[in-house]
Amino acid sequence: MSDLREKYLTAIAEAKDEAAIETLRVQAVGKKGEISLKMRELGKMSPEERQEAGPRLNALKDEINSALAARKAALADAALDERLRAEWLDVTLPARPRRQGTIHPVSQVTEEVTAIFADMGFAVAEGPQVESDWYNFDALNIPGHHPARAEMDTFYMHRAEGDDRPPHVLRTHTSPVQIRAMQAQGAPIRVIAPGRVYRADYDQTHTPMFHQVEGLAIDRDISMANLKWVLEEFVKAFFEVDHVDLRFRASHFPFTEPSAEVDIRCSWEGGTLKVGEGDDWLEILGSGMVHPRVLEAGHIDPAEWQGFAFGMGIDRIAMLKYGIPDLRAFFDSDLRWLRHYGFAALDVPTLHGGLSR
Ligand code: DAH
Repeated sequence: MSDLREKYLTAIAEAKDEAAIETLRVQAVGKKGEISLKMRELGKMSPEERQEAGPRLNALKDEINSALAARKAALADAALDERLRAEWLDVTLPARPRRQGTIHPVSQVTEEVTAIFADMGFAVAEGPQVESDWYNFDALNIPGHHPARAEMDTFYMHRAEGDDRPPHVLRTHTSPVQIRAMQAQGAPIRVIAPGRVYRADYDQTHTPMFHQVEGLAIDRDISMANLKWVLEEFVKAFFEVDHVDLRFRASHFPFTEPSAEVDIRCSWEGGTLKVGEGDDWLEILGSGMVHPRVLEAGHIDPAEWQGFAFGMGIDRIAMLKYGIPDLRAFFDSDLRWLRHYGFAALDVPTLHGGLSR
């Protein structure tokens, strides 16, 4: 019996895979295995012999079974180790910059602006680019005869001959989103609305399609002071400087009363723009307290609610921040330009991680 033990324990220790172990199992302790056959012979023994041989055979069977199980587990462990070694991958390695594409400065600046205003509690609102002239003009207190309609160089959508419904337009500004957002959400409300706008105009600083971001904050006691603080915080964060001077110049927009255009102090020394120092002023946006008629168009009661609005050119502040001289290049899709001024796709602007790098 010790021969058997020796034979099987050695063979098990040398088994190279699960199939070999299974073969050994069948040979030793399977139904017709050597040990099983020996156990069957117990019946022919005398009781004394059986008392001696029975427990030994049982112990041997147990020993072989546990040797089989142990060897099987050891092989499985080794196989797993081998797989882990082969499939090892360092997920902390930086991604390979293949630079197949870059983020357009307009998208980058839109993300930056959104991150800054989100931090001040502004949600993002959207509206259609083909807009009814009611939303684009009337609701914003720009009636049919108002000179602002002509000034805006509006693109009108085609209407069939004899169809005298008011025309749709390509929105000339993001301001109609104010009305849609008020109608949809009511007051209080705090939103920005970045997006494309259209005007028939083309030169170094004008393209027929460009981008604006609208801001709107309505509550019970919002004043010009809140507007000023919000804009100062925005400009500091956007231009990544600690201090800015803003200048509010009285102005006129049909949809705000009072209205102000806002300039920032800057210098052009050496041909490069520096924000926050110098003796020059640069206009960056229009703003004011939302006109009561505009609140009414948004189904908000002007006796109870008031607030501010502003509108800013995204392309313009992108040119200023990133030193891009000609607006037209924004929309030429010139790959060399995009590689030069574009941003890495994985660098999403956040306030904590840095807006631009
Ligand atoms: N809509 C104006 C434009 O396109 C910009 C503007 C001025 C928006 C004043 C406003 C505002 O919300 O209050 O030139």
